[in-house]
Amino acid sequence: MSANIAEVERRRAAAKLGGGQKRIDAQHAKGRLTARERLEVLLDEDSFEEIDMYVEHNCVDFGMDETHIPGDGVVTGSGTINGRLVYVFSQDFTVFGGSLSERHAQKICKVMDAAMKVGAPVIGLNDSGGARIQEGVASLGGYAEVFQRNVLASGVVPQLSLIMGPCAGGAVYSPSMTDFIFMVEDSSYMFVTGPDVVKTVTNEVVTQEELGGASTHTVKSGVADLACENDIVALLRARDFMDFLPSSNREDVPERPSSDPWDRMEDSLDTIIPANANQPYDMHEVIRKTVDEGDFFEIQPKHAANIICGFGRVEGRTVGIVANQPLVLAGVLDINSSKKAARFVRFCDAFNIPILTFVDVPGFLPGTAQEHNGIIKHGAKLLFAYAEATVPKITVITRKAYGGAYDVMASKHLRGDLNYAWPTAEIAVMGAKGAVEIIFRQDRDDPDKIAQKTKEYEDRFANPFVAASKGFIDEVIMPHSTRRRIALGLRKLRNKALENPWKKHDNIPL
Ligand code: HXC
Repeated sequence: MSANIAEVERRRAAAKLGGGQKRIDAQHAKGRLTARERLEVLLDEDSFEEIDMYVEHNCVDFGMDETHIPGDGVVTGSGTINGRLVYVFSQDFTVFGGSLSERHAQKICKVMDAAMKVGAPVIGLNDSGGARIQEGVASLGGYAEVFQRNVLASGVVPQLSLIMGPCAGGAVYSPSMTDFIFMVEDSSYMFVTGPDVVKTVTNEVVTQEELGGASTHTVKSGVADLACENDIVALLRARDFMDFLPSSNREDVPERPSSDPWDRMEDSLDTIIPANANQPYDMHEVIRKTVDEGDFFEIQPKHAANIICGFGRVEGRTVGIVANQPLVLAGVLDINSSKKAARFVRFCDAFNIPILTFVDVPGFLPGTAQEHNGIIKHGAKLLFAYAEATVPKITVITRKAYGGAYDVMASKHLRGDLNYAWPTAEIAVMGAKGAVEIIFRQDRDDPDKIAQKTKEYEDRFANPFVAASKGFIDEVIMPHSTRRRIALGLRKLRNKALENPWKKHDNIPL
């Protein structure tokens, strides 16, 4: 018996060593944790239960039959984050560069299937050179099995990807189909093909960082949602993040105690809107003063910063927040901001997270760059997402709600449940100056008349009352009472029941 136990211990120790001490040291030298160390930070202490520790690859080509490493480059299992169950896989770069073999893929699929069965999130810690080259089509098949599960799990259980090393090929396509991607700065990369292949095919010389580093993907491309300083910060941020999400689409949002009074008044909001309508202010302040304890988890803070998306809580329960940001491009809707917010709205809707929308938007961004790149189709994504969403939707117009953007931003017409406006709201087809230049084109050489007409237009539309008189705005609320009104609204809407007509699926303008 003791010999058997010793054998288990020996095998466990061998598996835990992955690709060996030398490679572990190399991983540490790059400032990266190993696959198992990462799981220790991500999960509650002693909560990780590993499965498939002894799985090995089945490849016999290119000398692979002589190298078998138990676990085959990925650590899989389940654990808890602040007591809530999650399924995890953590790729081990010390074993064949974390590359994905047929068996490695089977291990990932097994935890994904288990997560789907019980309704728990899947968190993938990705550190992989992509498909294991020695295995050929077997590894491609393995990836496709993972992709298929990513798609089936989408909208059923939350899927979070942490990119923690150089990830290429399939190692980026699978994360791209998950809900959120966090990256580690100066240490993680995402590309379909690495710099060497790029050089061969296009003759471009580019570094890993420029091609697919955290700043590239969290600022420019918008592929990733958050850049974190190092492995530990990324893993701790992931823990905080998971606290906002329900475990599955069958569950309600998590609730946690809050000592922040639900009816807290914020007098400072009464003066946040500048007297000059063209002067910006920081919408983050409005958000932080509305949510519990000012705790707001923003995603994609540096990509399309003219719209803010993230999670907060009101009375301890998660809300998804979408807000135009007057500080960046005057909060205009453009291609990137529409895509960013549309995906966020759809996530919230899929997972029963009420959506709170703060509106201060001068319209869609005009110009050839936007038109030629398809603002019509991309802007429609956000319109579509809001219109199909059946979760509770509360909207607060703080200042401008002009043109099509008024319609898009969770207006009453798109089944907004509670549409509030601050006294400073201006709801119109466009700004007074632009409107007058069009309607009174014949008087454009008469500055006095233009000024008079502009004033008339402002007096008529630069307020919330025309919209309120039509019932498009439910109530003009005092800025200081915003949190109270939202808390009351969310309470009322907790049992909201609304269904879209039956369909196989919709056809959102992709
Ligand atoms: C097998 C791999 C591997 C892979 C890396 N390794 N990638 N082994 N299959 N895909 C091995 C290396 O041979 C090396 O082994 C060890 O892992 C560490 O790799 P290094 O290159 O030394 O590390 P680094 O310099 O940090 O570079 C990391 C890297 C690079 C950028 C990921 O290894 C790389 O470019 N790999 C190939 C990426 C790729 O083209 N993958 C296939 C994508 S196709 P030794 O023994 O020397 O230490 C794909 C298809 C899916 O994924 C389809 C999706 C639609």
